[in-house]
Amino acid sequence: MRYLITAALPYANGPLHIGHIAGAYLPADIFSRYLRLRGEEVLFLCGSDEHGVAITLRAWQENTTPQAIIAKYHPLLKESLHALGISVDYYGRTSDPLHHETAQQFFLRLWEKGWGEKRSVEQFWDPQAQVFLPDRYIVGTCPYCGFEEAYGDQCERCGSMLAPTDLRNPRSRLTGATPELRPSAQYYFLLDKLQSQVEAFVRSRAWKPNVGPVIENWLRQGLAPRAITRDLPWGVPVPLPDMAGKVLYVWFEAPIGYISIAKRWALETGDPLRWEAFWKDPQTRIIHFIGKDNIVFHTLIFPAILLGVAEGYTLPHDVPANEFLNLEGRKISTSRRWTIDIDKYVAIAPQRIDELRYVLTALMPQTQDRDFTWEEFAARVNNELIATLTNLVHRVLTLIWRHGGSVEVSVPAELLEARVQAAQEIGQRIERYDFGGALGVILALAQKANKRLTDAAPWHKSPQESRPILAAYGDLLAAMGTLLEPFLPLKVAPTLRKMLGVSLFPWQRLLSSAPLVEHLQLREAPIPLVAKLTPEELHTIRSQLLPMQEEIKAPKEPSTGPIPGISIEEFQKVCLKVVTIRAAERVPKADKLLKLVVEADDGLHTVVSGVAQHYAPEDLIGQQAVWVSNLPPKTLRGVTSEGMLLFAEGEGGALVRVGPERPVPPGSPVK
Ligand code: MF3
Ligand code: ZN
Repeated sequence: MRYLITAALPYANGPLHIGHIAGAYLPADIFSRYLRLRGEEVLFLCGSDEHGVAITLRAWQENTTPQAIIAKYHPLLKESLHALGISVDYYGRTSDPLHHETAQQFFLRLWEKGWGEKRSVEQFWDPQAQVFLPDRYIVGTCPYCGFEEAYGDQCERCGSMLAPTDLRNPRSRLTGATPELRPSAQYYFLLDKLQSQVEAFVRSRAWKPNVGPVIENWLRQGLAPRAITRDLPWGVPVPLPDMAGKVLYVWFEAPIGYISIAKRWALETGDPLRWEAFWKDPQTRIIHFIGKDNIVFHTLIFPAILLGVAEGYTLPHDVPANEFLNLEGRKISTSRRWTIDIDKYVAIAPQRIDELRYVLTALMPQTQDRDFTWEEFAARVNNELIATLTNLVHRVLTLIWRHGGSVEVSVPAELLEARVQAAQEIGQRIERYDFGGALGVILALAQKANKRLTDAAPWHKSPQESRPILAAYGDLLAAMGTLLEPFLPLKVAPTLRKMLGVSLFPWQRLLSSAPLVEHLQLREAPIPLVAKLTPEELHTIRSQLLPMQEEIKAPKEPSTGPIPGISIEEFQKVCLKVVTIRAAERVPKADKLLKLVVEADDGLHTVVSGVAQHYAPEDLIGQQAVWVSNLPPKTLRGVTSEGMLLFAEGEGGALVRVGPERPVPPGSPVK
């Protein structure tokens, strides 16, 4: 069987974190490695998603270009995946001219086929930034509850869904300017006309239990026409003369990357048409590994595009989406710096990649959200990976070494049978995308073997007596060298094979009860496959990765002793005002500081706040806070701060903005 495996194309505007890996890249890798061991033909593709409004706005805010951002992150993403042993055959990118051309052909073809419609829509334009604003970048007063900081898509106070034109007094979150409504022409993809074809496709597949209901929900609401063009300066240009300056919507073109990257791969292999075997042969199974936020695009919209162009593209065989991985009970967030970034982990613990793969597989959010904690990381590494799995190997090999380093393998039939059954179950679980369960089967196998060994206690016996005991383990250890390969391919599985002097077996061999090896000959004294993770090492890794978490774990001691009283006159010397935060940015080379521009009754002031690890700059813009206005100016990292903003110290040291219950005019006194 031929397989095309893809993993969601990561946005080239930030590093990969453990949530991405557990969500899409690790499952895709385990699956691909397993299929290759089974002898299937596999092409595993990925690449950078380099367009979209997030990259454009970030460039605008950081006073740089989208090109500069992708030039930094494309190589970083590629290296991170490589360092984790994610075995992609080709890592492409959507800024590739071949991608632009391919996406444009798809667009034109849909248009030709009558699935498109040009519509004129009124959109908000920021006259200062000279850009059309996405909904989320407009704030104003909610027509339902009067909240003055409602977003263009939703009021966070009363929860109403909004359109930007519903807002009273709209303002741009980028510049604070009043946006103007301007008519703009956009192309719509008439998804509603493809609903029955899409439904027929969806009903012909068996979806994972966490995927099916999401799809059904969308279908029940009905597929609605969607704008597939945008007014943005960065992206794939719309290939029509009357659409100059517009680009294709990123979620329209990015999935087409799975096709254009296959074309690029084929070109580089010297056989330019080879991609067609993967995309146009109905026998090929196409499987997209993604996170749950991408489900609708991969199960409905992208298939609708493929159906719409009607050029013989194969529809996905499956879209095994995973749920989210949280970090210590909170949602992972790059902008709030609540994350474990892969590039950092790799730099800090390059010898502990298989350990991370092990734990992320055990904690994989296959059907529901899961939580990563450092405590569990250490426990799984020390108690499962080491105490159960690699310890079995070490105990057996040490004994063999002591008895001269070689042993004739002879295995009772029931143990061979147990290995066959385990291999079968591991394969079946991988095929059902139950990677954590598959790993659990290996662990259980090792557990039983450990117990047998402890019961037999060969170390108390003479060489003659202990030989047959050890001989019974040769087959299992040899099998482990292959069984572990999809999961722990960087250190554990290859080192084990090297120590045993065996190579990878085709998966089929593991399914036959013929013994895998007849003789084991160790060349070197065995060393532990995985070194114990000490509390000190764990602390070093943690503290380098998440300085913020360290702070939270060690909250400041509350001051003890009586608080000296002050008079009301003394208190009134403090001038407190409510201000509106108009701009926010990080202070370069300062991890904790944000430079904020706040509006009071007498105009704008600059305030430096030590909250960069608790708030992303864009989360503060437009919010109100309480300002101590009459402190002497203070210069921090070259920025002069006038006064300070008040934050409450919440649980675990988290800083929480203090503001008025309802919006008030900037500069309102607090008494
Ligand atoms: N960049 C998107 C994300 O990170 C995923 C794109 S997948 C593709 O959510 F199919 F569009 F390529
Ligand atoms: Zn509201």
